[in-house]
Amino acid sequence: MQRKIEVCVTPALLGLYDIKDSIVVVIDILRATSSIVYGIDNGANAIIPVANVEDCLNYTDNGYLLAAERNGSVVDGYDFGNSPFSYTKERVGGKTVVLTTTNGTKALHMARSRAKQVVVGSFLNLQSLSNWLKTQDNDVLLLCAGWKDHFNLEDTLFAGAVVNAIRAGFTEFDDSCVAAEDLYLLAKNNLRAYISKSSHSHRLAALNIEEDVQFCLQLNICDAIPVLIGDNLVRLQLDQIPESSLTEHVN
Ligand code: MLT
Repeated sequence: MQRKIEVCVTPALLGLYDIKDSIVVVIDILRATSSIVYGIDNGANAIIPVANVEDCLNYTDNGYLLAAERNGSVVDGYDFGNSPFSYTKERVGGKTVVLTTTNGTKALHMARSRAKQVVVGSFLNLQSLSNWLKTQDNDVLLLCAGWKDHFNLEDTLFAGAVVNAIRAGFTEFDDSCVAAEDLYLLAKNNLRAYISKSSHSHRLAALNIEEDVQFCLQLNICDAIPVLIGDNLVRLQLDQIPESSLTEHVN
């Protein structure tokens, strides 16, 4: 079977891709998609990504938790922002979180109107995401949220990790895939050291939240794959995946 995998290194280029029949994996490993994966894995009923801070206010008084981050900081007046440490079982289990972030939720919104299916990836769920992608028939676009429409290292590097894990099931790769995978192979033996070169690591260090970076680089601590159903990111039901593929290991 012919299957194509592509990497879009910034949402600014998304218009170039025909994704109506594709699965789009939205990637913002520092920190939006790591926190979303962790929150859904910890039993959040749903996470509703909204594009603007003001849009969160449409959800006040309904028992929702309201989370907003801009430029790495929690927006004043909101329950929390984008730190994975805010997405624990105790905090989000059984709750619905309405979330807006600088780049991640924007990328989710851009993908949702055009893609066949939108899911969320991070190092925390790399293995379960890769195993699931292997079992599907569709083309895959790995959409890096970047930083304010610019390329960033960490999302591209993660996209490369996914390419590396699933490449055997694909027949066509664009040059961004090749570059992303090469970047991953260059960095994989010391992700932390490589990612410390990224501008967002410096931004988070300036805000004294480097432990978030360390947290987001953990491999395969979550099984959940958040999938967008309507406005809600919910846990993808994996019953249909054969046991053998769930136990397979990502290199
Ligand atoms: C984002 O969505 O832009 C990022 O997750 C920013 C952050 O680390 O807070």
